Amino acid sequence: MTTPPLTINELIDLERYPLDRPDSDEYAALLSECRAHLRSEGCMVVSGFVRPEAIEVLVAEADRVAGAAHRSYNDTNIYFSADDESLPKSHPRRRFYRRSNAFVPADNFRADSPLRAIYEWAGFMPFIRAALEEPEDRFFRYGDPLADVIINVVDAGGGFPWHFDTNNYTVTLAIQNGDAGGAFEYCPGLRSSADENVPGVQAVLDGDRGPVRTLDLQPGDLQIFRGRYALHRVTPVEGDRTRYVGIFSYADAPGMVARVERTRQLYGKVLPIHLERENARREDMLAD
Ligand SMILES: [Fe+2]
Repeated sequence: MTTPPLTINELIDLERYPLDRPDSDEYAALLSECRAHLRSEGCMVVSGFVRPEAIEVLVAEADRVAGAAHRSYNDTNIYFSADDESLPKSHPRRRFYRRSNAFVPADNFRADSPLRAIYEWAGFMPFIRAALEEPEDRFFRYGDPLADVIINVVDAGGGFPWHFDTNNYTVTLAIQNGDAGGAFEYCPGLRSSADENVPGVQAVLDGDRGPVRTLDLQPGDLQIFRGRYALHRVTPVEGDRTRYVGIFSYADAPGMVARVERTRQLYGKVLPIHLERENARREDMLAD
């Protein structure tokens, strides 16, 4: 016997977070809180966004698809840039950290996927867009059938070393924590578009805890994060329990898909649409 999929009201705590009532005062208050946090420190956590009773359904889904995670490793500095031998050895650009990735591609979720149900629910994307204060004509659900909704799988010893994001924002849902470790640490505004603040960045890499804030995200917490100016990391996960985080992706144009090379690297495969788009890009001679 199969149980029917959860309704959106069973998944999201709509009493606390009225995404289904965008004209209400409560919605306006929630939005202004999100915007204030995102403006001041580039981070907003919507605690208990997914109801506690729905978490086990999300965990069951993650357990079911975790085996399909593609594992890849790379050594990267905090900027994801190349080494520069003209700089001193201590420079952040010259420090490389091992990063292990394990992402479950989006095509592993069943039609009744609760994670996808949240992503595709009509009330979700407009809320994220409004919280990030992105213009309506520059914010769309990602068109990539392997990457629009994914799960990051982290086993003991895994995490993410310090880095700045190359994308403007990240939207994640905590599904399951490891037994210990796996804390999200970030340094709001450690650099800006005008100032790389190399001394400050170097200090954090050397252990300065002054600018570091720590978030202990719990299953069901939705996090909206601007990681371009905030150095951040996930500390190593400890214990037998796997850490699962759902990642919702957006793009500034409709129907966007990722490049072939990046898709292969992150998911270990590509779909016909990736190859078709790559060929189209080649034909029009544009760089991207
Ligand atoms: Fe990041």
